[in-house]
Amino acid sequence: MKAFQILFVSVLLSLVLAVGCDYKFVKPDTGAPVDPEVPISFSDEIEPIWTAQSCTNCHNGSVTFSLEQGSAYQSLTNLNLLDLENPANSLIVKVPGGSAPHNNYNYVGNQKALIETWIEQGAEDN
Ligand code: HEC
Repeated sequence: MKAFQILFVSVLLSLVLAVGCDYKFVKPDTGAPVDPEVPISFSDEIEPIWTAQSCTNCHNGSVTFSLEQGSAYQSLTNLNLLDLENPANSLIVKVPGGSAPHNNYNYVGNQKALIETWIEQGAEDN
């Protein structure tokens, strides 16, 4: 009987632990998957990302080039931050999350996928 209780408690404990550990790895909602067939708007969907991710703290045209609404497109094209042949290789996609000062600034959820898909769609100033 005692052995049974011990078994029961250990099974219960490992279940709790397993669920507990699992829980840590549950990712937050990362946003809707990006449908490549649906045209992405640069001004409505892409530009706001750089403000939301605080890129514009530095990329405001005074510390370094601007990623602010209204001037981001010019920076992307003038500085060659887009790779139309291989969107994932674009600097605007690759640099965030890399070495300092970008280690603390990155895209979240579907932001990177949105930018890549927008480039795939021709990187229009739309
Ligand atoms: C703490 C300041 C800071 C923040 C915040 C920051 N950057 Fe930068 N970034 C820099 C500096 C400094 C450089 C290098 C100087 C330059 O290229 O003008 C740079 C360079 C870059 C480059 C490469 C330009 C090139 O020609 O190689 C890209 C792309 C870039 N940043 C994108 C971003 C994005 C996107 C974010 C937000 C996710 C971001 N940065 C946030 C400071 C910052």
